[in-house]
Amino acid sequence: MLNGEFGPATQKAMRILTSIGDIYGAERMARTEHVHVASGTVISTGTGGAQFIEWMAENGGRARCYATVNPSAIDSTHWKRLGIPREYYDWQLRLNRAYETMGIITAYSCTPYLVGNVPHFGELMCSAESSAIPMYNGYFGARTNRQGNPSSLSSALTGRVPVYGLLLDENRFGNMVIDVRIPCRSDHDWATLGYFIGKHAVSRIPVLVGIEDGVSLDHCKMMCAGMNSSGAVPHFHIVGITPEAPTLDAALGGKKPLETCVYDKAARREMERHLCNASGEAVDMVVLGCPHVSVYQLQQIAGLLEGRRVKEGVLMEVLTSDAIKAVADRQGLTKTIEESGALLLSRTCPTCYPLGECMAASMGIRSMATDSSKMAHYAAADSGRIPVYYGTTEQVIDAAVSGIWTAAEE
Ligand code: F3S
Repeated sequence: MLNGEFGPATQKAMRILTSIGDIYGAERMARTEHVHVASGTVISTGTGGAQFIEWMAENGGRARCYATVNPSAIDSTHWKRLGIPREYYDWQLRLNRAYETMGIITAYSCTPYLVGNVPHFGELMCSAESSAIPMYNGYFGARTNRQGNPSSLSSALTGRVPVYGLLLDENRFGNMVIDVRIPCRSDHDWATLGYFIGKHAVSRIPVLVGIEDGVSLDHCKMMCAGMNSSGAVPHFHIVGITPEAPTLDAALGGKKPLETCVYDKAARREMERHLCNASGEAVDMVVLGCPHVSVYQLQQIAGLLEGRRVKEGVLMEVLTSDAIKAVADRQGLTKTIEESGALLLSRTCPTCYPLGECMAASMGIRSMATDSSKMAHYAAADSGRIPVYYGTTEQVIDAAVSGIWTAAEE
């Protein structure tokens, strides 16, 4: 590959991987069967990045493993209604064509593990998308470093990954403890816990103790999204639950933790106050599905919306992938959600389309309500600084229906 025998794109991809390997002191390159590529949206590639990806497609780049791609700047059906400018649409189509040519699976989702990109325990793989990386490491027990677009695309096109960092046994142990002293039951509870973990762990590997039962994939997904908004956490352990953590001692590799942080009622309240920064009570936009929802979550959302109407003037988005939406269509969930006036969007999210960059002001969006700590963080800090109401899924849906935010009782 490095000698150019597989064409210029594969050669360039291998050059990128060997350079990364050299920087991090990798001793070898390993085969990989699963890769999740970062830049599905032209918002994050920019036009220069999109041209680079087109060049890779035109010069023979072809996927050599099960490779999926992150959300795009346009959804499958509602992009015109959302007012996405034509220039983004045109660039996005160019990017889409390049991924299709390369045989990258155009899942356009930040939850690739819900659409078949599932490695086995211990598998060396490559994932971009900050919420998916700790899911692969901590939930599935596969091994990935935090990767970005050039590196993940290069791994997809070579089926190889340089072996360093979290791919090695010795770097996978936890080094700090999060002592969870309150029950975490809802997706929102886990999203808030994740935000707390990111603030305290920063880029270390937390080991969670005190979580006894009721841990679902959706819970961990919300937690992982939160912890990589306030921090850059590559991996986590939940003692007794995640694959590499049968005991606290095993999770810590027999060493003492550098720090123990207590997550209690006061800590949760502090995170909620930080994330719920809007005032004035009127809600213009409501977002559920960060990260992209599962069918199970759609069932809950449809149940809460059934027979109700989203208030006129409120834009309510529920975000998922094409694959999950196809099941929702069949099960009548899309119909229930869209009869309420909400939009079920597949392939995108407000940080992947130019909401903050150019659309929020023209659409009259002055506040957003969400149950996701990641969406709350990015809407306020990244997507044009939109004031955010942060609460439970139930609270957020009530706000969509009334157009008014009602704070939870203390
Ligand atoms: Fe996914 Fe967008 Fe959230 S990419 S994790 S829905 S910010």
